[in-house]
Amino acid sequence: MTRTDSHDRGQALDAFIKAMPKVELHLHIEGTLEPESVFRFARRNAVALDFDNVEALRRAYEFENLQSFLDLYNATMGVLCTEEDFFDLTWDYLARVAKQNVVHTEIFFDPQGHTRRGVPFATVVAGITRALEAGQQRYGISSRLILCFWRHLSEEEAFATWEQAQPHLDRITAVGLDSSELGHPPEKFQRVYAAARAAGLKAVAHAGEEGGPDYIWGALDTLHVDRIDHGVRCIEDGMLVERLVREQIPLTVCPLSNLRLRVVKNMASHNLSRMLALGLCVCVNSDDPAYFGGYMTENFLAVRKALELVPAQVLALGRNAIDASFLTVDDKAALHRRLEAAADEHGFSPGG
Ligand code: ADE
Ligand code: ZN
Repeated sequence: MTRTDSHDRGQALDAFIKAMPKVELHLHIEGTLEPESVFRFARRNAVALDFDNVEALRRAYEFENLQSFLDLYNATMGVLCTEEDFFDLTWDYLARVAKQNVVHTEIFFDPQGHTRRGVPFATVVAGITRALEAGQQRYGISSRLILCFWRHLSEEEAFATWEQAQPHLDRITAVGLDSSELGHPPEKFQRVYAAARAAGLKAVAHAGEEGGPDYIWGALDTLHVDRIDHGVRCIEDGMLVERLVREQIPLTVCPLSNLRLRVVKNMASHNLSRMLALGLCVCVNSDDPAYFGGYMTENFLAVRKALELVPAQVLALGRNAIDASFLTVDDKAALHRRLEAAADEHGFSPGG
């Protein structure tokens, strides 16, 4: 194959990536707060900011590690105060990803980042869910909502949040665990997860992003999660990989996030294609797209290029996301049909 051939094939695959119906399973709605919106909400709510303008804030989107990102993320979400703010935030995200052909999204929110500032849990949920319903109407994007506990806070605080969630459980599909991983193992939240699962909720947890394989074992064995968020460090433990493959536990990988939080040195060294080759159920997601330089399409394009992915790998990532979602069997089948039809249209064999 000449260099031109390979360039043309890359271009054709990129065109398919843009067009393919995509499922997003790892997205923090507060992580979609673009710098312009930070200033818009700050003005609206008369919240003082530490930055003079949008450019200065954008320049601060340069991170050493997970904690340096979380420090900024936790601070900037302080501009979100009213139901309207949460509606607008979620609506802006949906409008953006509708253009990227996202057809289903499962969204995290961090209630403790809001209730600690006196914003009621009900206000947050009302704004987000109203936008999700409108997004289904306007763009045909289906969605689920996942309540995340901040793992740097106590078990008692997680239980207080769980109590506040009670009147809203019909809107919440799963619980999740995020924030600073190191030093805050899953075991700390065993009891609150047991309560959530007993109430019929699904469970996911961030694990194996900065933390090692032990955090993934803990999420599986003590939290009994349905999916692992990130999970890229599973590769360090052969027995763990064997289990994740055997049980087809999905791993919601976020390539640009891993790059920007220095989980990987460069995109070419990302282990996504290795994970696929091992038979792990991995998919591509954007995590905090406003902070990490890209939404779903940009994440796919970045790995396609750096890892020289071929159509079969891109399709596998798309299929895994559908299978890993919390949609019904029928809805999954419908999405699979859409994905295969798109592949066919772009000349990629549906079986491939
Ligand atoms: N909160 C938002 N993004 C996160 C990430 N990548 N890891 C842990 N907590 C988060
Ligand atoms: Zn995340």
